[in-house]
Amino acid sequence: MAIRALEWRNGALHLLDQRFLPNREEWVVFHDWAGVAEAIRDMVVRGAPAIGVTAAYGMALAARAGDDLMVASAGLRASRPTAVNLFWALDRIEALRTTDASAILAEAVSIDDEDLQMNLAIGKFGAELVPLGAGILTICNTGSLATSGHGTALGIIRSAFAKDPSITVFSCETRPRQQGLRLTAWELMKDNIPFKSIADSAAASLMALGKIDLVVVGADRIACNGDSANKIGTYALAIAAKYHGIPFYVAAPSSTIDIEIADGRQIPIEERDGAEITMIEGVQVAPAGCPTWNPGFDVTPNELITAIVTEQGLFNPPFGF
Ligand code: MRU
Repeated sequence: MAIRALEWRNGALHLLDQRFLPNREEWVVFHDWAGVAEAIRDMVVRGAPAIGVTAAYGMALAARAGDDLMVASAGLRASRPTAVNLFWALDRIEALRTTDASAILAEAVSIDDEDLQMNLAIGKFGAELVPLGAGILTICNTGSLATSGHGTALGIIRSAFAKDPSITVFSCETRPRQQGLRLTAWELMKDNIPFKSIADSAAASLMALGKIDLVVVGADRIACNGDSANKIGTYALAIAAKYHGIPFYVAAPSSTIDIEIADGRQIPIEERDGAEITMIEGVQVAPAGCPTWNPGFDVTPNELITAIVTEQGLFNPPFGF
């Protein structure tokens, strides 16, 4: 059965709490927009498209409660800064220029449905890039948990596997939040897709050994020139791929393209609590008071990207969105 991480049911938003996966499959029910904003901030739900869809449902909750929609939208916008899908979805809701709860819910449902359709199209286009029996490297979680279903980079992997079960995935652990080890591994195991989880620092060695035929990653925000923000560590993979002559693909729906910014220098990069680095599973592993720098994302410059796969097909350099 297809994995779903968010559902609108009985007038409330239900989120699969991704902080506890894979150990516990626990759903949380939200009845107000402020709770939804907190859930995005705290990463109960994460992944750029899923954040956008969740925020849209947050607006539906605000409208049902008769809350001030401008306040709700501002509160949701302040939850996380990098994924442009959040702002894109809220812009769509605001463009309705209505406080009617059923109209806002209908738009949220459309955003949700469209995301799934876009991912299926990305999967179809992207699967054509995958050679027979390929070794595929990916980072973070870009699957059903990060979207309305199927996924972006992981959607390409799913679609490629449906055509060729002999592919192998190498999934980066993705320190410090371990979305690769906890979430991507969970999704790949559910779908019986052959894979190995690796420490992030093993990626370049794997390339040198000739085990990787392509790298495919998601994105949180793509600038007009193709510069792409994604989970911290993506940029290092792109540099290593270039050195080894391995194609590097970015997969994202058009809702991830920010047509208002010319290049990646204008992408706001989230900085998160240093405790994500110094503590593992609630246990302090660094010396007390250890200073940290914990950006959630980095920007891969367009010259390191072989192609960007969207629901509209493949975009090759020079990118001009
Ligand atoms: O901090 P996260 O887990 O929200 O970061 C997620 C990513 O970086 C994903 O690669 C990106 O959002 C694309 S998800 C289809």
